[in-house]
Amino acid sequence: MKVALITGISGQTGSYLAEYLLKLNYQVHGIVRRSSLIKTDRIDQIYNKIKLYYGDMTDGMNLMSLIQNIQPDEIYNLAAQSHVKVSFETPEYTANADALGTLRLLEIIRNSGKKIKFYQASTSEMFGSSPPPQNEKTMLQPQSPYGVAKLYSYWLTKNYRDAYNIFAINGILFNHEGPRRGETFITRKVTRYVAERSIGIKAKPLQIGNVHAIRDWTDARDMVRGIYLMMQKRDPDDFVLGSGEGRTVLDLIKVAFKKINIELDWNENEGIGINKNTNEIMVEVNEKYKRPLEVNSLIADPRKANNELNWKPTIGFDTMISEMIENDISLMSNAN
Ligand code: NAP
Ligand code: GDD
Repeated sequence: MKVALITGISGQTGSYLAEYLLKLNYQVHGIVRRSSLIKTDRIDQIYNKIKLYYGDMTDGMNLMSLIQNIQPDEIYNLAAQSHVKVSFETPEYTANADALGTLRLLEIIRNSGKKIKFYQASTSEMFGSSPPPQNEKTMLQPQSPYGVAKLYSYWLTKNYRDAYNIFAINGILFNHEGPRRGETFITRKVTRYVAERSIGIKAKPLQIGNVHAIRDWTDARDMVRGIYLMMQKRDPDDFVLGSGEGRTVLDLIKVAFKKINIELDWNENEGIGINKNTNEIMVEVNEKYKRPLEVNSLIADPRKANNELNWKPTIGFDTMISEMIENDISLMSNAN
């Protein structure tokens, strides 16, 4: 039985990865942060099948003793302050958790002398201002403290692979979403709003930032399968995962509203989205949600993963958004 340690197991992708590895008969261990309220909603259904430990990416001693005790065969480093806008407000903390946290893990692996495989959750945010489509050879020009911190971890992972012969790899993942997505990321923010509307909650217009940014949105469950496939390669290597389809934030909003039969008209001058049938304002641009610097366009060129991992997403954008809305409707209905 292989032993996996997942940092960030309580997060969106960590929870799907834990389920995926359990199905493959792994023994799964995970690190969670202590908080004043329990935050294990995403892993409650597997709580009895996994082992959880308190820890933090900023606490090297804690990480060292956990790894010594658990003796993992594989470490999946998914823990991070993962919100791009928040990274502008907490750049030092973001660097500590997202950059130095990776250093702490890699140093522990190096000093252990054991053959521990290491997966680093790298991100398309590192491409920053490089125009799409982006692949493993595209220049990395990050535009946020988050992107810069992740760039450090990306290079460090490569460096430890080359210098110390560690099986250490980067999955350079484009945006991934699903019913478990955090509520402050754009897809979930939109699907929650649409769900509220559909069950008749009278809400003020949806407040959003830049509607023209382009992203490549893929289902997180497809991404987890890709992560596993990367870890099965004989030789360690880095892979881009994404659908190859770019959509604007406005496209996303329109698709989501259409799911509840609302056609939106966008008024660019006023920055508002209006219900074509009722003339009600449904969406409003709010400067508060814009970033000091934006990544304009991220669209994956996933050919390397297609060819070498035989990986392709199986869940389309439309299906994913429908499922997210249905999930939000059922969560809200159960809560009321
Ligand atoms: P997420 O939902 O925000 O989950 C992040 C996880 O990291 C949570 O479990 C969080 O714990 C934990 N964490 C944060 N700071 C920590 C710290 N200092 N010490 C220990 N744990 C900490 O993110 P996600 O969407 O699952 O993404 C997983 C990873 O992939 C992240 O590294 C992210 O940067 C990267 N990534 C994500 C995407 C995407 O589109 N989702 C794309 C590319 C790369 P709490 O629950 O306590 O907050
Ligand atoms: N969150 C948010 N909230 N984003 C908004 C909003 C809003 O109200 N309005 C517009 N946007 C725009 C953002 O400016 C960005 O261009 C786009 O919607 C997507 O924002 P997020 O969903 O927050 O994701 P992200 O692309 O910034 O970052 C996500 O993907 C990265 C991979 O490219 C995160 O999951 C990162 O952790 C991940 O690395």
